[in-house]
Amino acid sequence: MKKGIFITLEGIDGCGKTTQAKLLKKFFEEKGFKVVLTREPGGSSIGPEVRNILLNKNMNPVSEFLLFASDRKEHIKGLIKPALERGEVVISDRFCDSSVAYQGYGRGVSLDFINYVHNFILEGLLPDITLLFDVSPEVGLKRIHVSDRIEGEGAEFLKKVRNGYLEIAKREKRFAIINGEKSKDKVYKDMVSEILGRGLIYGG
Ligand code: TYD
Repeated sequence: MKKGIFITLEGIDGCGKTTQAKLLKKFFEEKGFKVVLTREPGGSSIGPEVRNILLNKNMNPVSEFLLFASDRKEHIKGLIKPALERGEVVISDRFCDSSVAYQGYGRGVSLDFINYVHNFILEGLLPDITLLFDVSPEVGLKRIHVSDRIEGEGAEFLKKVRNGYLEIAKREKRFAIINGEKSKDKVYKDMVSEILGRGLIYGG
């Protein structure tokens, strides 16, 4: 049974979540928690190889989703669940919502199919909070040096992905939307106040 705290960070490329993930790890460590900082794709035992294929080879969007999903299953089984069972804080830079936003809303893979597969993969495990760092595609693109296939898709694609995230956030209470266009310090403060505001930890 899950005892720890599961936090996921989401947003389009260049939204700043990776920087904030590191700061969040420090925040929890200073409070005495054991923290696992991980990411998708790549955090599972098959992750580095799957990541390499996903970011470099062109493929059908359904195959792409299934590869992300395989990495996710291994990630949950091999790393996320065991850490949560030990009572640790797990911070994942991307998780299931990335597939819904990128492969579903971005590339048009059936949302029903994605949800169906996720039902098997997640077995009821959902983040306690999902921090969505919301930025416009223009801001996101300015911040990244385009380095892989998915990041190279351009503003039109990222617009669909962003809108997808905002749609999911409307349905899912676990989502907290943070304006990622603000300064790094302000984004950090907003992130911490969301964590504290949800009663995930006590003693501020
Ligand atoms: P990465 O270099 O980790 O970028 P970022 O720092 O933005 O997370 O590359 C991950 C890429 O994979 C990113 O463009 C989003 C994409 N992705 C999906 O399309 N679907 C998914 O399910 C996941 C986890 C990531």
